[in-house]
Amino acid sequence: MPEQTFLMIKPDGVKRRLVGDILIKLEKKGLKIVAMKMLQITRELAEIHYQEHRGKGFYEELIKFITSGPVVAMVLEGEGIVEIIRNFAGKTNPKEAGCGTIRGDYAYDLTQNVVHTSDSIVSAKREIINFFEKAEILGK
Ligand code: CMP
Repeated sequence: MPEQTFLMIKPDGVKRRLVGDILIKLEKKGLKIVAMKMLQITRELAEIHYQEHRGKGFYEELIKFITSGPVVAMVLEGEGIVEIIRNFAGKTNPKEAGCGTIRGDYAYDLTQNVVHTSDSIVSAKREIINFFEKAEILGK
């Protein structure tokens, strides 16, 4: 099975009309999107997705934000795609994210940082299952 990762354009990215810009960057780099949808995240899904952050100081703000409006979720596929997409997004803290990365170019806030990306192959598998049915992922 080819390597896959999960990328989500967060509510701030959708509200700010950054979906098109982000898709253009992904496609111009030659990356392959194998699933994509727009959805409103429920509190239940948010708690599953961000389970590792439960109890942290920023958790409630994060759950409130991620459920505040529609997001665009997608699956990308290719060799080394987890690391490629992590680098594409830039560091979590937008103030540390490099120029040319999504957070470096478009974000200034630690919570409202435009995109979420999987941080490992293991978390990518878990996150993809949380958001997509098998039949929604169009491989090959
Ligand atoms: P994300 O990649 O979606 O994973 C967890 C999110 O928590 C992160 O991006 C940030 O949007 C948010 N967050 C808010 N505060 C912090 C913090 N202090 N450290 C890490 N993540 C934070």
